[in-house]
Amino acid sequence: MLGRTSWLLALVGAAAVHSVEISNDAWGLLNESMTIQDAIYDPAASYLRYFYFPLAAGPHETRSSVWYSVGLLQRNQGNDADEAINILKNVIRDQEKNTTVQWYGDYTKYPEQPTVGTQAYPPVIYNSWDPNWRGFIGTALILIYEEFHALLPTDIQDLILESVYNSTVGDSYRVGGVDGDNLYPAYSNAWLMRTVASSWAGLKLADTNMTEAGDSDAASFLSLFDRDHTLSEYNGPTYAGVSLYALTIAAKYLGSTNSTIGRNAERIIQQIWAYESQLWNPLMRNLAGPWDRSYGYDMNNYVGIMSLWIWALSSKETAWNHTSPIWTMAHADDFEIAPVIAVLSAFHKTLVSGEVLSRLTSFSGEHTYSGHAYAPPADYEPRNITTWVSANLTIGTQSFNQSVVGGFSEDSSSFSPAVVQWLRSDESIGYLNLYPVETALKAEVAPYGLNLTYPLGDASSTFTFVLAANPLGRKRDIGTLDDVDGLDIKVGGTVDPVPEISFCGLLGGACDVIHGFEFWNVTFSMPENSSDVPRIEFEFEFTQP
Ligand SMILES: *[C@@H]1O[C@H](CO)[C@@H](O)[C@H](O)[C@H]1NC(C)=O
Ligand SMILES: *[C@@H]1O[C@H](CO)[C@@H](O)[C@H](O)[C@H]1NC(C)=O
Ligand SMILES: *[C@@H]1O[C@H](CO)[C@@H](O)[C@H](O)[C@H]1NC(C)=O
Ligand SMILES: *[C@@H]1O[C@H](CO)[C@@H](O)[C@H](O)[C@H]1NC(C)=O
Ligand SMILES: *[C@@H]1O[C@H](CO)[C@@H](O)[C@H](O)[C@H]1NC(C)=O
Ligand SMILES: *[C@@H]1O[C@H](CO)[C@@H](O)[C@H](O)[C@H]1NC(C)=O
Ligand SMILES: *[C@@H]1O[C@H](CO)[C@@H](O)[C@H](O)[C@H]1NC(C)=O
Ligand SMILES: *[C@@H]1O[C@H](CO)[C@@H](O)[C@H](O)[C@H]1NC(C)=O
Ligand SMILES: *[C@@H]1O[C@H](CO)[C@@H](O)[C@H](O)[C@H]1NC(C)=O
Ligand SMILES: *[C@@H]1O[C@H](CO)[C@@H](O)[C@H](O)[C@H]1NC(C)=O
Ligand SMILES: *[C@@H]1O[C@H](CO)[C@@H](O)[C@H](O)[C@H]1NC(C)=O
Ligand SMILES: *[C@@H]1O[C@H](CO)[C@@H](O)[C@H](O)[C@H]1NC(C)=O
Repeated sequence: MLGRTSWLLALVGAAAVHSVEISNDAWGLLNESMTIQDAIYDPAASYLRYFYFPLAAGPHETRSSVWYSVGLLQRNQGNDADEAINILKNVIRDQEKNTTVQWYGDYTKYPEQPTVGTQAYPPVIYNSWDPNWRGFIGTALILIYEEFHALLPTDIQDLILESVYNSTVGDSYRVGGVDGDNLYPAYSNAWLMRTVASSWAGLKLADTNMTEAGDSDAASFLSLFDRDHTLSEYNGPTYAGVSLYALTIAAKYLGSTNSTIGRNAERIIQQIWAYESQLWNPLMRNLAGPWDRSYGYDMNNYVGIMSLWIWALSSKETAWNHTSPIWTMAHADDFEIAPVIAVLSAFHKTLVSGEVLSRLTSFSGEHTYSGHAYAPPADYEPRNITTWVSANLTIGTQSFNQSVVGGFSEDSSSFSPAVVQWLRSDESIGYLNLYPVETALKAEVAPYGLNLTYPLGDASSTFTFVLAANPLGRKRDIGTLDDVDGLDIKVGGTVDPVPEISFCGLLGGACDVIHGFEFWNVTFSMPENSSDVPRIEFEFEFTQP
């Protein structure tokens, strides 16, 4: 009996050794994510079911299954490790093997999909195949190999290496501006994932070409980053989190090597947090604007990956303090990445200063952040950013001069160059965001003030703002800006000060919701035949009781 007990203890001990040591809060993040993922895991398929809006009828999903396998290996109870191995075998089996196609080395988006490149299923970048899946899955496989290889049979370890190698080769096919691809160094999150994967694979597999490609990508990244110590893909509540993820892998597994990204990752992470922590308003649980690519207008109502980092580094209450279950939030499927963030969080936290952590958890006082970001080829010149952060009101904006409307990703629904947020009486967040329709903007911010000018505009120009609906129990109808809850808004400038106001609702109104967010569309026009440069001036007064 004694023998059997010590054998059991040895097993328990072995399992404990394989888990990465993380904080209780990080375990809380991992467990809450795993509760959802356990419920949608299909052991017969060894894949997670596809959890996305609009909910798909039946299929499974590839990338989230790999993130789930990280959670399984970290938890490592019962048959967790076996399930993880089954998932990895499945995902790698279906990885594209034809070296001549643009999506070589890429993974499926879902396992039931027809073969990409057949007549029935043409290759449509970012749709039928997603070039970023190589980076997302490749880097997750690196994490799995580094942290959990002792839980994996050698043939699976070798399969992982082969898979990372192929995905890295395939990723080298990507050239911004060619074949519909947009992988320029300014596409920070995707560029960093490729940089890290090829640096790691080059060293691991002694392939100097890959190492050199990784170092060269790192140099291109640094020449942009070191201009202003900001990511070109600036302050995205989702994608800054992905860039931090890639950099953490570089710092942890390449930090003591000669790899360029490895040697620089720690200080880049610190420089990113240096500005992100000044933009984070812990009373409003939001990063103040402007945001390059965001999936909503209030981080309390969608899952942004930066919220997950803040949870893992501090606590859930620091990131979100309302009680709505996470699976009811917009972009809830991004919560499937939580195991990966949790596993990396303890190491990541060793890189983050006490000052940054304290700015994340308690309000550091009213302040103004000024900076720049540069994302060629969209940016003709660097952007000038100013953000005023006060306890209950933040105003952040940027001047830009770009070749396209909607920023680097040419998407006005995610590029938010002027953002006003305020805390309302019920602790919900109000917002008033410029919806970009022009290629150039001159913007000024001061406490309680925001001025926006279209240097290339004319009498036909309009300023459209996405305005939050009032809190429950307050006025449901907004006819004028006087109806807005919690904020007094005065308008000046060369625009007609009386806006056209319409509603963009889930079930009706004049226009569509954006990323699941309903809003009032507040559009200012120029007086007829005006020869003035279009300009709108706001003065805000906080009217919270
Ligand atoms: C998370 O789950 C693990 C494994 O099931 C358990 O040991 C741990 O106590 C849980 N921790 C938290 C904070 O929920
Ligand atoms: C690989 O793809 C090319 C281009 O689509 C095609 O001509 C070739 O037949 C494919 N090879 C295999 C083995 O499927
Ligand atoms: C990697 O790509 C080669 C073709 O270059 C293919 O033969 C091999 O099966 C691929 N390996 C995996 C794991 O997909
Ligand atoms: C490395 O690059 C050189 C020059 O492009 C090429 O000749 C060689 O085959 C590559 N080696 C590997 C292992 O890919
Ligand atoms: C380290 O990397 C640099 C370039 O990034 C290279 O010049 C140097 O030779 C490398 N040193 C070693 C020991 O590999
Ligand atoms: C939520 O945050 C606000 C502002 O920081 C705070 O006043 C409130 O007590 C918090 N509510 C909960 C439920 O923690
Ligand atoms: C912010 O709001 C809180 C509570 O809602 C209030 O107590 C405080 O005075 C406000 N602060 C400022 C600077 O208006
Ligand atoms: C940013 O500020 C600099 C210095 O004032 C100015 O020269 C530049 O034109 C500004 N950039 C934009 C995009 O407005
Ligand atoms: C934007 O940049 C281009 C190229 O440098 C320049 O010609 C143009 O005058 C700039 N536009 C504005 C509005 O500053
Ligand atoms: C906006 O412009 C007005 C009028 O020129 C000026 O009084 C105000 O200070 C400006 N506000 C900001 C934020 O620059
Ligand atoms: C906002 O409303 C205007 C009309 O006032 C319309 O032209 C525009 O397309 C709407 N914008 C959005 C983002 O709904
Ligand atoms: C605007 O210009 C048009 C064409 O010149 C003219 O017919 C119209 O009366 C003008 N409107 C105003 C308000 O001046």
